[in-house]
Amino acid sequence: MSTERRHRMIEEMGLGPVWTLRERASAEPAVPASAEPLPDIPVAVAVSAPVSEEMDWEQLQDAVAGCTKCGLCRTRTKTVFGVGARKAKWLFVGEGPGRSEDQQGEPFVGPAGKLLDNMLGAMGLKRGVNAFIANIVKCRPTDDNGRDRPPSAEEAAACMPYLQRQIELIQPSIIVALGKTAAVNMLGVDPEIPVSKLRGTVHRYRDLPLVVTYHPAYLLRSLQEKSKTWRDLCLAMDAYADATA
Ligand code: URA
Repeated sequence: MSTERRHRMIEEMGLGPVWTLRERASAEPAVPASAEPLPDIPVAVAVSAPVSEEMDWEQLQDAVAGCTKCGLCRTRTKTVFGVGARKAKWLFVGEGPGRSEDQQGEPFVGPAGKLLDNMLGAMGLKRGVNAFIANIVKCRPTDDNGRDRPPSAEEAAACMPYLQRQIELIQPSIIVALGKTAAVNMLGVDPEIPVSKLRGTVHRYRDLPLVVTYHPAYLLRSLQEKSKTWRDLCLAMDAYADATA
């Protein structure tokens, strides 16, 4: 990678003066508890069609939109399929939709999404153009108080076939796992393993290179980890160059 690009990445990663999200992130209100009692919609586990290897993009989108494979369908507003070029070379995988994503039906639209967009920009990538952004689960997981929570192992397992089919259709050259949920579910490793132990190595997801880095929401809270994320993105760019040489 050129020195100029590395300098640009340092700037964009907030190690220089570019990002202004720090104050906004800390001023962000906590997700309020849901005031409304949850509707008691039965989850028909067997009703959702299995994800088949023949599913095309539209069929997959329809399957996700109508999915009732796990209890998250009861509380979702919108499913969040993912966004980006259908033939993107870069795939970024997060955890699952939060409140804003659930309302808008698009991944990473809150402050963490702004940070992710800056990270992409520093790499010469842009959502919707040459990168695809998806999540481990397509529906927002919430706790009893209506706050965001990580998906359970069962929820992640129920949703993984959708992501797997997306990957088959997109055929990216590299995957970046954003945070622990994405990393452990894609790599099938011990869920207790911290991101710090998974980053710094080029893993494989099936035959694709996969690089693990910190989740943008975590970076908003842990500014000291930004330089490590920058190193992870450099590693990913090198792995991408190798994979496409
Ligand atoms: N966090 C995620 O992991 N994914 C989103 O889409 C939004 C926030």
